[in-house]
Amino acid sequence: MAPNFSLASVLGVLLVFTLFHNPIIVAGQHIPAVALFTFGDSNFDAGNRKFITSGTLPQNFWPYGKSRDDPNGKLSDGKIVPDFIAKFMGISHDLPPALKPGADASRGASFAVDSATILGTPKDSLNLNQQVRKFDQMRSNWNDDYILKSLFMISMGMEDYLNFTKSNPAADGSAQEAFVTSVSSRLKYNIEMLYSFGASKFVVYTLPPLGCLPIVRQDFNTGNDCYEKLNDLAKLHNAKIGPMLNDLATAKPGFQFTVFDFYNVILRRTQRNMNFRFSLTNVSCCGTGTHKAYGCGLPNVHSKLCEYQRSYLYFDGRHNSEKAQESFAHLLFGADPNVIQPMNIRELITYPVNTNMSEFWKEPVERNLSLVHDNVVSASESM
Ligand SMILES: *[C@@H]1O[C@H](CO)[C@@H](O)[C@H](O)[C@H]1NC(C)=O
Ligand SMILES: *[C@@H]1O[C@H](CO)[C@@H](O)[C@H](O)[C@H]1NC(C)=O
Ligand SMILES: *[C@@H]1O[C@H](CO)[C@@H](O)[C@H](O)[C@H]1NC(C)=O
Ligand SMILES: *[C@@H]1O[C@H](CO)[C@@H](O)[C@H](O)[C@H]1NC(C)=O
Repeated sequence: MAPNFSLASVLGVLLVFTLFHNPIIVAGQHIPAVALFTFGDSNFDAGNRKFITSGTLPQNFWPYGKSRDDPNGKLSDGKIVPDFIAKFMGISHDLPPALKPGADASRGASFAVDSATILGTPKDSLNLNQQVRKFDQMRSNWNDDYILKSLFMISMGMEDYLNFTKSNPAADGSAQEAFVTSVSSRLKYNIEMLYSFGASKFVVYTLPPLGCLPIVRQDFNTGNDCYEKLNDLAKLHNAKIGPMLNDLATAKPGFQFTVFDFYNVILRRTQRNMNFRFSLTNVSCCGTGTHKAYGCGLPNVHSKLCEYQRSYLYFDGRHNSEKAQESFAHLLFGADPNVIQPMNIRELITYPVNTNMSEFWKEPVERNLSLVHDNVVSASESM
């Protein structure tokens, strides 16, 4: 009853309460207000593709966007990872598509386009180099210092490997190795080009286990199993990413990066789905076929929609539900090195520019997957 609490202890309690209840927002207030630029395929497309093609795109129709108000050209039931990252960075709107006339790109934009590849020239889309050149064309919108401090996120390669596997079903080990080498060298070339345009902070995704996508299980008739051949290809690609970025950071002053281990993030959710509260990870929420993986949003396909999309890892045959995307964004922004290394996005944004990184990417030691947890480092631990 006695009101003898000191003001400091009361404030302390309030502070702890705030930290534990909203660690991301509190941390977000201490990061500089920089921009976010994304490059990639459908996973990062904020609605660009409709500005490239006059064709009808399923992502502009219900039930895409159903968890928010409208279909908006994103391949999800709602927001996608870059929207959540933008929010954590204090950006007050979803990340806009760079190709949308009049978009407010003051805090960055998405250059990613559905169906984009690293190699080749995808139909009605932009390959990575075309996206990078588009950024260059728009570069005068942002000053050099702002670009230097801003974040460049890349998630790409899925379409290259899906196409390769379909076109070359009998590819042997050396054909696979050769393809992986050309994809990863081209990726490196484009990251170097962005660096030459003044970018210095890169976040690169590894490929997810492509063989576990519902569309792949359906196309290759694997039932409840993943198509391991595609997973192996994804692993070959992923093994190149960390060392390639280490090389760049060694060769280029002030080059900073981090690698998001998307492969194992998805695999953990696929194998131990209930730990992550996804009741289904082998089939998608929206579509038809054995794994409901085809035709979501197409007017001529009677798309069956699940009852509760938030319990699915995949909304359609190859894209994650908004619920899953939000959890990935939390991991990207605040997880420990099990998931994103050598640092998370919050650390990367605050890392001083024109400074070499003090720690590089390290080959993870072989870990027992069932013992690894995804941890988002709480603000209190890192303060
Ligand atoms: C898909 O693979 C075929 C056959 O290898 C190739 O000719 C084509 O350019 C690839 N498409 C893309 C967009 O990379
Ligand atoms: C997907 O997983 C569920 C639950 O584990 C299982 O009952 C179902 O048969 C699986 N579906 C397919 C197409 O493998
Ligand atoms: C930073 O790295 C570059 C090479 O990328 C090197 O030339 C330079 O000496 C390094 N700077 C410091 C302060 O270590
Ligand atoms: C991983 O750990 C679990 C639980 O301790 C154990 O049952 C399983 O055999 C281990 N798997 C491997 C491959 O070591």
